[in-house]
Amino acid sequence: MPLSTKETADLYAQYLIGNYGRAPISIVKGQGSYVWDADGKKYLDLLPGLGVDGLGHCPPSVVEALRKQAGELLHIHNNYLMEGQGKLARALVKHLSGMGEAKAFFCNSGTEASEAAIKLARLWGKKNGGKWKIVSLENGFHGRTYGALTATGQPKLQAGTEPLLPGFIYVPINDTKALEQAFEDREICGFMAEPVQGEGGIFPCTKEFLTAASALCDLRGALLMYDEVQAGMGRTGDMFAYQTVGAPAPDILWLAKALGGGFPIGAMLARPEVAEHMVPGTHGTTFGGNPLACAAGLAVIETVEKENLLAHVRAMGEHLGQGLHGLREKFPALVREVRRIGLMAALDLSVPGKPYLEKCRDEGLLINCTHDTVLRLLPAMNVSAAELDEGLRILEKALAQ
Ligand SMILES: Cc1ncc(COP(=O)(O)O)c(C=O)c1O
Repeated sequence: MPLSTKETADLYAQYLIGNYGRAPISIVKGQGSYVWDADGKKYLDLLPGLGVDGLGHCPPSVVEALRKQAGELLHIHNNYLMEGQGKLARALVKHLSGMGEAKAFFCNSGTEASEAAIKLARLWGKKNGGKWKIVSLENGFHGRTYGALTATGQPKLQAGTEPLLPGFIYVPINDTKALEQAFEDREICGFMAEPVQGEGGIFPCTKEFLTAASALCDLRGALLMYDEVQAGMGRTGDMFAYQTVGAPAPDILWLAKALGGGFPIGAMLARPEVAEHMVPGTHGTTFGGNPLACAAGLAVIETVEKENLLAHVRAMGEHLGQGLHGLREKFPALVREVRRIGLMAALDLSVPGKPYLEKCRDEGLLINCTHDTVLRLLPAMNVSAAELDEGLRILEKALAQ
């Protein structure tokens, strides 16, 4: 017998650390773009798993792959060969463009993938002129452990946990002048950015900015590094967001969230001449890329390919964009701006978004609010036009109240 919402809430109050702002609903089941809470209420989830459930909840191909793998081998450590890692790395590399015969490292989360990238950049930099500093973007997000948190150019997320990692320099997104100034420092080994800032409120880097960053990296001998944890794996309408932006290919790129379709996995991919600096003993993980995680990742990629989801994301993105712009026209004083790329979308409000978020939830729609005023939507890549319309209707009702 499942617990009621109240019973689960009581367990949380007594036993869980309060580090999350939690909505008072207990989700017990999910299918596609819908979830059900412990009281049987159904919700349309247009932010499934905060980008993790990129194929919606419990995608049959991923569930089946996990069931099959669970019956064969759950875990084996990284000092043996694992067929799944080889196949998943090959499948990912096939979708990269301009990164040569890239090589993969698997871990368990986005923050771990960011850490791996930071370490690899330093390993490379020490051998290439003794460089070790990294330029990242203000308002970016790369995770919560110390390297990733330091790279995250948001003082409010770092406050109270100092001292941070030394050697990080922050510049505003799409500010080429500031980037040039930052590169005056000759100890820089890498520039890292989300091609589309997700947690920051859906702000795409411009092609021009990333092209300038690439040129500066070439000029000064530094690595171009993209965090595609949120924007990657098809969400922008290409397998990788840098391809949608039209930006130069990076030296290092990392993924997590939608890669596992709901199962935890992260991956870092690097050009071979960079990857070779991560030699035995320099980095590792016990769980990273275990057979279950790789089976899930492979099922995700195969599903994206078989169901032609990249084209679907582009079409549904347009559909969502039209609906959101319609809301901006209806509520010009309330909706300041619509930002969207593929199925990453934001309604930037002129007032705090939380009350609207709560109204949406009461009406059966799940989205989230970031940076106080930004309502964020990251629908599943296989969302239908009818589901998006249903969400837009609820949003409209909430905004009208
Ligand atoms: C761009 C980006 N990088 C890294 C992370 C951290 O990922 P995780 O929460 O899996 O550690 C996130 C999470 O939201 C993210 O959006």
